Parts: sequence; structure tokens; C-alpha cells
Amino acid sequence: MDPYRVLTVFLSLWSSVVPADVRLVGGASRCAGSLEQRHQGDWRPVVDQYNWNLTSAAAVCQQLDCGSVVSLRRTQHSSIPMFVSEFGLMPISMVSDELILEITCSDSVRLLDGTSLCSGRLEVKSDQSNQSWSSVCKEDFDLRDAEVVCRELGCGAPSALQGALDGGEKAPMWTREFQCKGDESALLDCDSSVRNTCSSGKVVGLTCLDPSGLRLVGGASRCSGTLEMNKLGEWKPLDERDWDLRVAGIACGLLDCGSPVSTTRRMNPAKTNVWAAGSNCASSLMDCFDRPTFSHGSLEITCSDSVRLLNGTNLCSGRLEVKSNQLWSSVCEDDFDQQGAEVVCKELGCGAPSVFKGGLYREVEAPVWVRELPCGGDESALLDCLKSGSARSTCSPGKAVGLTCSDPNDVRLVGGTSRCTGILELKHRGEWKSVVNADFRWDLKVAAAMCGRLDCGSVVSAAKRTESSERPVWWINSPCVQSESTLKECVTMKDQLSEYSLEITCSDSVRLLNGTSLCSGRLEVKSNQSWSSVCEEDFDLRDAEVVCRELGCGAPLVLQGALYGGEKAPMWTREFQCEGNESALRDCDRSGSARGGPCSPGRAVGLTCSDPDYIRLVGEASRCAGTLELKNQGEWRPVAVWDSQWDQSSAAAACGLLDCGSAVSTEITDDASDRLVWWIRSSCVQAAATLLECVTLTNVPETYTGLNVTCSDLLAHPNISLSPSTDGVSKAKWQGLQVLMGSNFTITCSVEPQYQEGSFQLVFASSDAAQNYTLPAVNHSAHFLFPAADHAHQGDYRCVYHVYVFSHNFSSESQTLYLAVGASVTELIIRLVVLLLGLMLLIIALCCHSEACRRRWR
Ligand SMILES: *[C@@H]1O[C@H](CO)[C@@H](O)[C@H](O)[C@H]1NC(C)=O
Ligand SMILES: *[C@@H]1O[C@H](CO)[C@@H](O)[C@H](O)[C@H]1NC(C)=O
Ligand SMILES: *[C@@H]1O[C@H](CO)[C@@H](O)[C@H](O)[C@H]1NC(C)=O
Ligand SMILES: *[C@@H]1O[C@H](CO)[C@@H](O)[C@H](O)[C@H]1NC(C)=O
Ligand SMILES: *[C@@H]1O[C@H](CO)[C@@H](O)[C@H](O)[C@H]1NC(C)=O
Ligand SMILES: *[C@@H]1O[C@H](CO)[C@@H](O)[C@H](O)[C@H]1NC(C)=O
Ligand SMILES: *[C@@H]1O[C@H](CO)[C@@H](O)[C@H](O)[C@H]1NC(C)=O
Ligand SMILES: *[C@@H]1O[C@H](CO)[C@@H](O)[C@H](O)[C@H]1NC(C)=O
Ligand SMILES: *[C@@H]1O[C@H](CO)[C@@H](O)[C@H](O)[C@H]1NC(C)=O
Ligand SMILES: *[C@@H]1O[C@H](CO)[C@@H](O)[C@H](O)[C@H]1NC(C)=O
Ligand SMILES: *[C@@H]1O[C@H](CO)[C@@H](O)[C@H](O)[C@H]1NC(C)=O
Repeated sequence: MDPYRVLTVFLSLWSSVVPADVRLVGGASRCAGSLEQRHQGDWRPVVDQYNWNLTSAAAVCQQLDCGSVVSLRRTQHSSIPMFVSEFGLMPISMVSDELILEITCSDSVRLLDGTSLCSGRLEVKSDQSNQSWSSVCKEDFDLRDAEVVCRELGCGAPSALQGALDGGEKAPMWTREFQCKGDESALLDCDSSVRNTCSSGKVVGLTCLDPSGLRLVGGASRCSGTLEMNKLGEWKPLDERDWDLRVAGIACGLLDCGSPVSTTRRMNPAKTNVWAAGSNCASSLMDCFDRPTFSHGSLEITCSDSVRLLNGTNLCSGRLEVKSNQLWSSVCEDDFDQQGAEVVCKELGCGAPSVFKGGLYREVEAPVWVRELPCGGDESALLDCLKSGSARSTCSPGKAVGLTCSDPNDVRLVGGTSRCTGILELKHRGEWKSVVNADFRWDLKVAAAMCGRLDCGSVVSAAKRTESSERPVWWINSPCVQSESTLKECVTMKDQLSEYSLEITCSDSVRLLNGTSLCSGRLEVKSNQSWSSVCEEDFDLRDAEVVCRELGCGAPLVLQGALYGGEKAPMWTREFQCEGNESALRDCDRSGSARGGPCSPGRAVGLTCSDPDYIRLVGEASRCAGTLELKNQGEWRPVAVWDSQWDQSSAAAACGLLDCGSAVSTEITDDASDRLVWWIRSSCVQAAATLLECVTLTNVPETYTGLNVTCSDLLAHPNISLSPSTDGVSKAKWQGLQVLMGSNFTITCSVEPQYQEGSFQLVFASSDAAQNYTLPAVNHSAHFLFPAADHAHQGDYRCVYHVYVFSHNFSSESQTLYLAVGASVTELIIRLVVLLLGLMLLIIALCCHSEACRRRWR
């Protein structure tokens, strides 16, 4: 190996951590040039793998005391010794393009403590300030001076110039007044005059406009072409990967170019510098594309330019607007007809018009467009129809045209036993190909959305299949598929081959609607191509068993009318007569004749099936602790999360589903072995009613990182019993047990063998005393011996089992045992003797009494 090419690799996060010993060489000053780092006495260029951004370059400028960053560029080099910058956790790979960083710093001006690189408190440095940074007095600085500074820093025009920014008092004050003409390239090139004091005491705070902007270049109009973005004065194309039409729609909107019609990726023979999407994509397109990189691809967008559909549910529906003289206006119903609708749908790249009428979508004001649009239907744009159009007077509000065009794309399932089962294929640009999700979020909910689009009822199962070879596929964006977007919007630009395809089984002729999970909802059955709910009278528990089985759910839990709404009265009029063991409702017998009376909407069957047996914790003595496993497609596999957001509340959701109380602890574990796992999205877990909905489908074995979960209801409940069952102990009349006064008794606490350790606490409570005793658990039990029972022992006894496992204390309680203390045998004999004696005395007394009476009456 060429010794020069042995690269020293730094495992530091270079984009945020700037190495200590750096310099810029080959530029006009020490504050510009290519970045080098000293390593063991040698200076070598730093090679970047697209991790650097302006913020990290700004840190270099600061470290070199070179003011603010003006630009960061990369140039290609080869065969020189260099350092590779690399993300901390990613595997190290050789770079194919060895890119050297070129940084330009402003040297003598800087903006400090601002909200962006283009704003902050102004400081300057020159020989006049003895090469130390000084603030500038507000009075010595005007808008022309600001223009020069903003330009010098590579920012846009100045947008705010203010005084008295915090922190200004720390730096010494610059003592000259700037007198820029406005066209100088650097502030220190401007004339200046001496000024001694800063009477207001306020220093300059400056905000230059962020020069971000978008444009489409190289197309037929300003509304089509390669998408480019300007950041800090540099126009670069946007990286084309993973775009779909909805993202393009944002660009068309920002350019005031109507709706997106198509996106095409253009492959260039040479790599060009492009902006790639970073991590900041939630807020705006501009913030999203912040990472300069090199790519062969760029993105071509065609926007509709002069027509758009607004406020619809997708790009092919909404209120029609046309643009004329740079103004958008709705179109009056009276000026528009079927031919016009056809032209618009075609112009927007959508399918045939399905609905158009006035007042369909919310409109703000009456259309101002009051010219007829007599289209022939063949025009390529709506405005082409205008030539022959005549003006009319007015249009009343509420008559703005709302238009829905059909989805030009289509889906189908092929290779299955019916049209509702098989491999998913999508027609895009007239071509059927199988489908792969670009975002790896293929899960049961996405499959459910596909079943819905196919009018095939509910989803039963979904699986990712590995084909024998790689082939062209359409890549789709899964969240898009679940929304009301057209499928056209959901296809991304990615054009890689794939060896995967997606197989779906839909229920076809039954579905549960508006439920809380995929296993609950209002029952509907399909007959004669239309869906109908079912009347309570026609449906019993056995029928429910069949439906739950057919949908891949567990046993029926709740069967009730009107549980999940029902707008219309059920139309289904035959009674189902299932045996209960059929695999589908359509296999069940139905009553020969229709039900007599009608069924009210309130009696539409609502059904809740239990979730299938699909989640468990394994590897520990308790069912409420261990490694999380999931059963999907009949197979148990450990669970792995791919968004690294698994936390205590996700674990709590799992404990809840297992009926194991709350979560005590959870951790992501590492195991070097490769095995098949079920991937889930943790962000889904808390929201979903069943974990099954969160499984993303992949068959790739993974170096296994599992999830260990410990739930609070870890321990079995201990048993409490009284022993030995000598004749001193008997069942008392009120539920509890009775021991005789003076006899010995033992209360035994025992628990199922789960853990060796632990202790039992026997808690006693009576009306006037409370006491507790503790013994260690021996052989999973403890015997509490009480000699000579007396009345003080009468009361409630309860066993509490305590154990310390998984670094936590757990406890569980037994039921309460009531113990009564009765009289002993000798006491009973004495009582009996006393009783007999008492009885004798009574009889004697009665006899005497009766003798005396008799005597008196005589
Ligand atoms: C530059 O990269 C760092 C580290 O990756 C990141 O924290 C920062 O937000 C990035 N700056 C911009 C402007 O994107
Ligand atoms: C300029 O800086 C040098 C070295 O830091 C120092 O010796 C000198 O006193 C400074 N002069 C003024 C006028 O601040
Ligand atoms: C309709 O769309 C416009 C432009 O996208 C938006 O500004 C407005 O808020 C939307 N109106 C409604 C009612 O959604
Ligand atoms: C029930 O589901 C249907 C079809 O998904 C939907 O159109 C309807 O709005 C839902 N109704 C309610 C009350 O959620
Ligand atoms: C099926 O629907 C069609 C059209 O809606 C109707 O003409 C036909 O009578 C229906 N057939 C049955 C058996 O209900
Ligand atoms: C259902 O069970 C009955 C007997 O109880 C049997 O005759 C029938 O064949 C079974 N049907 C199916 C589909 O298993
Ligand atoms: C995770 O749980 C399994 C099964 O209970 C156990 O074997 C493994 O040691 C646990 N891993 C960690 C890191 O606790
Ligand atoms: C009760 O236990 C004591 C020892 O604890 C024993 O001496 C006595 O004989 C026992 N009495 C009975 C009735 O078992
Ligand atoms: C607890 O009692 C129940 C019911 O009497 C019994 O099935 C179980 O085996 C007992 N458990 C122990 C640990 O004794
Ligand atoms: C058990 O007794 C101890 C000390 O007598 C007391 O602090 C504790 O609260 C008692 N526990 C119960 C469950 O009654
Ligand atoms: C533990 O209990 C089992 C039965 O429950 C018994 O077979 C065994 O001998 C006992 N072991 C000890 C050490 O007491």
C-alpha cells in the first residue's frame, strides 16, 4: 500500500468538534485557504465526508481569530496524505472523492451572538485597534456601511440595523466613523474619520437577510427546470434523492408556480456540488437542505405555472385558480365546462375529472376571473382556451369551481387467489412495477391503507418478500399512502433496483370501520360490490368468532349495536348462521328468507376482537419481565427498534398490553449474534392500540439489539394458609378459620417458585391492634408459628412477599385471611357443666315454685 495513502482516521464528530491544531493555507491571507491540521509534526489537509457545514467552518474562523465565516467550499484532490473526518458511530469507509475543505473567513469584521451567521453585534479589527476586536458606535455607522458589511460576509442585503445590543460594553469601542460609499467590498476599504467618544454609548447590531432563495433553471419557463437553491450567495442544485411530488409542491408554491406536475431526476456524467437534506426538515424546505454534498443527480421539476387546485385533500383536487397578470383568481362555474375540466386535469398530470362544481371548497371571495374558457378538450393548458373567450360581467360568491381529478396512478395485487391478495404493484407513468417503501416504514397500517384503496376490506396480513433477483420497483412514501393523497404524490424519485416486494392479504368482503384498532369497529360486509353494516338481530357470537378469525384477530370480546357509529341503517337483510369453525364469513350459511322488518341505524353491529396472541416477555421466571417478543405472520421473534426512541413510556405501553402493571425498567440490549427480529417504530408504540400495527416489515437478519422490559406486576400473588389442620382448627361460620383458645397454630405464606431470595411479611390487623412479622423465604415459603392462641390473635392476616430483583424492590400481597379464636375443650366442658348445673337449678326452682302454687290454691 502506498504509504502516503495510509489515512489517519479520527473518530470524532468533526462537524461539531473542531480539531485543535488547524490553519488555512494557500489563500490571500491567513484567514482563507484550504484547511490543514497538524498531526505528529506534519501539516496535512483535512478530508471531509460531507459532514462539515458553515457552522463548523465558523468555529474554525473563530479559533483562528479570523472573524465570521464567509464561505465553505470543497475541492477534489487525490493521492495526498490526509485526515478523514467521519461521523462518530458510522462504520469507517474509504472516501471515493477526497474533498479538501476551503474556508474563507472575513478576517477583519464579524457578527457576534446573533441568531444566525448573518446577524449579531458588529465588531471590527485593524491596526488602528491594535489588532483587537472592537465594537462600533451606532452613530458612526449607517445603512451604506451595513451594505458593505453584509456583502463582505456573504450575506444578503441588510434588513435591520439597531443599537444597544447586549455584550457591547465588554469590547473596547472603535474610534472612527465609517464613510462607505456602498460599493466597497470590505468595510476597512471604506474611508473613515476620527471620532473620540461614542455619545449614545450604543453599539451596532446588524441583521443581514439570509440570502436563501429558490429557482428553476434550464426549463422552458421560470416554472420548470432544475431546482437550485441559494445559500450565502451560492446557487447549487438540490439533491434529488427521496423527493416525491408533495415536496416538489412546496417548491412550486414558494416559486408562485402553481401545482407540481412532475418531477424527474437528471443524472449528470460528472458529480456536482449540491445541497442535500439534513436533519432539519420539519420546519421548511430552506432549512432542510443545508448540507453541501456531491451528486451525479439533480432534480427537474415542472410546475403547472398558471393553474392550481387549492385546499383540496390532495394535489388532484381543490378549488381551481388561474393566474393572469401575476394574480391568482378562482374560476366562475358559469365559465367552465367538462372540456375545461379535462384540460385542467391533464395540465396537472392527474387522471380524468371525476367531480366539478361550484362552491365545493371553501372560498374567500367571489371569483374575479370573469372570462369564458371555451375549451375544446385538446388544449394543453387552460389559458390556451382563453383566445376565443369573451368577457362577462360578474360572478357571485359560492360559484367558484371546485374540481376533483382522478388519481392517474393505480394499485393492484397480483399472484394471489383473488384480487384482494398478492404482491402489491403500482402503475406510475403507465408502467406497472412492484412497490417498495422508500422510508422503511412498511407496516400493517400502510397495508390497511392499501386494502382500503383497493376496496378490499380490512388487512389480514402483510409481509415483505425477498425475490430471487433485484428488479425495478416504484419507491413510495408510506405516510403519504396513509393520507388522502393520490398515489401519484407518494412515489419518490429513488430509482434503485430492489430485491423486495410486498405481499398483502386483505379480508375482501368483511371489514371493521371506525374502531380503535385494526381488530375493532363497526362490521360491514360487501355484497354486490357495495358495503353494508349488519343488523344485531342477524349476527351472534358464533358469527363474531368467524369474523375475528377471518381478520387475523383473537377471540371476540364485545359484540354490541351502535358501538362504533353507523350513519346509515344496515342494508344487509339475511341472518348469518355460522357454526363458529368457518374460516370466513362468506362460508357461513345464511337464512333463506330476508328479515321481515327494517333495522334502525342504532343497531348496526359493533365488534371488538381481542388482539391475537402476539406479545410476550421471555427469558425470566415471570411473564412480566424479560426480552420482548412479538408474533407476526405466525412467527415469534425478538423485537428491535429502529428509531432509537424506545423509552420508559414505550415500555409502559408494552406492560399495559401484557396486563403487567406499569414499567419498572427497560433497556436496549446488545447481542453480537445475527438473527431475525421484528422491527418496530417506538414512536408508534404509545399511539397504537396493538404493537402489531407498529411492526415494519423486513426479513433481514440483524445483529440483535433486543429490548428487555421489567413490569411492576412481576410477582405472582402469595398464598396464605393456616396449619397444621389439627382438630384445634376448624372452618368458622363466617368465611374465615377458627382456632381454639390455647392451641398452637401456624400461618404459612408461600409463593410460586420464581426467585430464590425474598422474604415474607405477615401483616396482622384487628379492631384494636396491628402487628407484623417478617421471615426470610425458605423454599418459597415461610411458616409463622403462634403458640397458645388467645383473643388477641383474632383478626385479619395477610402475607406480603418482598424480593429484590432487577435492581428494584418488588412486592405482592396475598388475600386476607380472617382468623377467629374459639374456646378450648376444657373450657367447653366447664361451660357445659356450668350450663347443666344452671339448668338443674332452674328445674328445681320451677318444681319448688309449682309445689308452692299448688299448695296455695288448695
Ligand atoms: C452543522 O453541523 C452541526 C453538527 O452536525 C449541527 O449541530 C448544526 O446544526 C449544523 N449547522 C447548520 C446550520 O446546519
Ligand atoms: C498594542 O498591543 C501590544 C501587544 O499586545 C501592547 O504592548 C501595546 O501596548 C498595545 N498598544 C495599545 C495602544 O493598546
Ligand atoms: C387554502 O389554501 C391556501 C393556500 O395554500 C391557504 O393559505 C389557506 O389557509 C387555505 N384555506 C383553508 C380554509 O384551508
Ligand atoms: C368512519 O370511517 C370511514 C371510512 O374510513 C370514514 O369515512 C368516516 O369519516 C369515519 N367516521 C367516523 C365517525 O370516524
Ligand atoms: C346489484 O347491484 C346492481 C346495481 O346496483 C343492481 O342492479 C342489482 O339488482 C344488484 N343485485 C342484487 C342481487 O342485489
Ligand atoms: C365444523 O364443525 C362441524 C361439526 O361440529 C363439522 O361438521 C364441519 O365440517 C366443521 N366445519 C369446518 C369448516 O371445519
Ligand atoms: C435481557 O433479558 C434476557 C432474558 O431475560 C437476559 O438473558 C439478558 O441477560 C438480559 N440482558 C440484559 C442486558 O439485562
Ligand atoms: C405448643 O407448642 C409448644 C412449644 O412451642 C409445645 O411445648 C406444646 O406442647 C404445644 N402444644 C400443643 C397443644 O401442641
Ligand atoms: C395457591 O393456591 C392455589 C389455589 O388454592 C393453588 O392452585 C396454587 O398452587 C397455590 N400456590 C402455592 C405456591 O401454593
Ligand atoms: C410493619 O411494622 C413496622 C414496624 O413495626 C412498620 O413500620 C410497618 O409500617 C409495618 N408494615 C405494615 C405493612 O403494616
Ligand atoms: C421444598 O419443597 C418441595 C416441595 O414443595 C420439597 O420437595 C423439597 O424437599 C423442599 N426443600 C426443602 C429444602 O425444604
